Amino acid sequence: ARDAFIRDLLSRMTLEEKVGQMNQYNGFWDVTGPVPEGGDAERKYEDLRSGRVGSMLNITNTSDTRKLQEVAVKETRLGIPLIFGQDVIHGFKTISPIPLAEAASWDLEAIRKSAELAAREAAASGIHWTFAPMVDISRDPRWGRVMEGAGEDPYLGSRVGVARVRGFQGDDLSDPLTIAACLKHFAGYGFAEGGRDYNTADFGLSTLYNVVLPPFQAGVDAGAATVMNSFNVLNGIPATADAFLQRDILKAAWDFQGFVVSDWGSIGEMIPHGYARDRNEAALRAAVAGSDMDMESGMYLTELPELVRDGKVPESLVDEAVLRILGLKYDLGLFADPYRYADAEREKRILSNPARLETVRDMARKSIVLLKNEGGVLPLSKNGGSIALIGPLASDKDSPLGSWRLTAEPNSAVSVLEGMQAYSGNTLAYERGVPLAEGETAFVFETKINTTDRSGIPAAVELARSSETVVMVLGEHGFQSGEGRSRAALGLPGLQQELLEAVHAVNPNIVLVLMNGRPLTINWAAEHVPAILEAWHLGTESGHAIAEVLYGDYNPSGKLPMTFPKSVGQIPVYYSHLATGRPEYPGNDLVFWSHYIDQVNEPLYPFGHGLSYSDFRYADLKLQTTEIRPGGSLEVSVRLENASDTPGTEIVQLYVRDHFGSRARPVRELKGFEKVFLEAGGSAEVSFTLSAEDLAYYTAGGTWEAEPGRFSVYVGGSSRASLHADFTLTE
Ligand code: IFM
Repeated sequence: ARDAFIRDLLSRMTLEEKVGQMNQYNGFWDVTGPVPEGGDAERKYEDLRSGRVGSMLNITNTSDTRKLQEVAVKETRLGIPLIFGQDVIHGFKTISPIPLAEAASWDLEAIRKSAELAAREAAASGIHWTFAPMVDISRDPRWGRVMEGAGEDPYLGSRVGVARVRGFQGDDLSDPLTIAACLKHFAGYGFAEGGRDYNTADFGLSTLYNVVLPPFQAGVDAGAATVMNSFNVLNGIPATADAFLQRDILKAAWDFQGFVVSDWGSIGEMIPHGYARDRNEAALRAAVAGSDMDMESGMYLTELPELVRDGKVPESLVDEAVLRILGLKYDLGLFADPYRYADAEREKRILSNPARLETVRDMARKSIVLLKNEGGVLPLSKNGGSIALIGPLASDKDSPLGSWRLTAEPNSAVSVLEGMQAYSGNTLAYERGVPLAEGETAFVFETKINTTDRSGIPAAVELARSSETVVMVLGEHGFQSGEGRSRAALGLPGLQQELLEAVHAVNPNIVLVLMNGRPLTINWAAEHVPAILEAWHLGTESGHAIAEVLYGDYNPSGKLPMTFPKSVGQIPVYYSHLATGRPEYPGNDLVFWSHYIDQVNEPLYPFGHGLSYSDFRYADLKLQTTEIRPGGSLEVSVRLENASDTPGTEIVQLYVRDHFGSRARPVRELKGFEKVFLEAGGSAEVSFTLSAEDLAYYTAGGTWEAEPGRFSVYVGGSSRASLHADFTLTE
């Protein structure tokens, strides 16, 4: 029925109407008011009325979406409904932790639920489609968009990406409380040279197939409805015009049935890329390469009809794109009822559902990573102590919302100060110390960091001197990471390091709570501060979740999804690197091996690292056999013990090393993880099944297969796990 319906519709469409479906516009005026005369809005409105718009983005409530849908349905010749898209990245009105933080939970069910909540709120507000999840593997924390993905690892990234697709889409796209997902950015966007957003990416087939593509393929296999291409050039070809990526891999090899949307204006950006001479050539190259929908460059609209009439773009390619787009409209149920998502009563009810806060609080707790805890500073005692709370982010109600929270109420997060005030057993006093921003900077687009105002430091120091314990909340404002927010230096911005050192000089009993959207270089703190809690940007319930962890009501279990470097010069630094022909080895006192003369190779905190208030110990790594045959599998087990009197959860990680291959192989690769809860003093045997298929990779022969030979398996609490055993994959 679906196929017959959309094909019949296509057969009745003019070329202009077909191209109209391939055109997406940004929301352009207060749609419930009069259309402004002249200029962009009037032109776009006329295009909408004449059937030259297939989708719109950034229209964010039911009355606006209904109004525009009525224009599409009632005023255009064929009445084809619009799809409304929006960047629903980590929540809609109720904000979850940034995706990088969520990935630190390694909790796929919590991540699915968080995406489900975002989908419910967005769908109830009239939105059909989110531009998420971002599944770009990212190994360069200078790149601001690392906050939007799941970090550096393709295995974790794939699993998290799938959980998010399932959360957004549920199992029925026509359910008016689900939305279509979009895997982005296809492909290579996370490998921008120098970590500078929109910059060139350049890597070979091994990285493409083994690192960059797996999360996309997993997302396609999980049924993601759409894919967004990317701004960057990859090996000289803008991704928007890359037929190898979009047609050969995505649509042919993976049999992707959904559609590809360009990134915002990326068709037009092929002109400054120096890849298309003019608008006409840009549209030609994008359409031929398989970009189905043009987000905001308007070039399909003005160029494609003529390109088809001139025989430069076969009409069959336009038809294919339009069928894909109409197919999603059909799946969303929009032909059955174009207003099925525009129910004002449901919008009100879903946006005020009390259960939403517990969902994001739970996600926030699980996302927190305890990086360091010496001398039992944490958890804080709940009774009788005096605590100095210091730092510009401690009272901040906006930063915890992070970047990419377009529809959230500004300043709507629970601050750490508020979260800690809910615990009344201690004396708590607050001093900001230094402002993060210079003057009244709003921070949304510009980050004018304060580098001059030290006036609050003396009061903060005095408070620290007279208190038993100091909690400092430092890091990045919510808008210091995200799109267009690359950084060349990764220390604590502005005067925060100076504040930290001044406070430390009078009271070193400090718990540092970090709020940030990316790994930072915090060597001084790691050396001098006894306890460090990575609290990212945790969303609406941030302060409550942080306070629960500080006071021990929640035992932290997060593990880093991305390596923390010791210095910017080490970047890219990630755990699954190749060995090099001159790896580090003990006792080498010459310079001729792969290292820096002014920095160690090891990062500050490795991938997978994260502590607990419990004391987890690993023993008895066992392999059920030391050989796997092709097509076979192997049981791996380990004994995990909680040698403490605090119940807790550990994320047990399994890594594999392939010692020899037709390509050089990474020193370790994550192949499995389990989240295990243990009572105080408890223990459990944790087991994994490792199959020959898990050992497959993109070989030198261009096949995806496991090559026979020796492998080592490592199990433990981080990518540095030391327990290991060997096995062989036989011929
Ligand atoms: O979805 C985003 C994309 O990730 C970056 N450019 C704009 C798009 C739509 O807002």
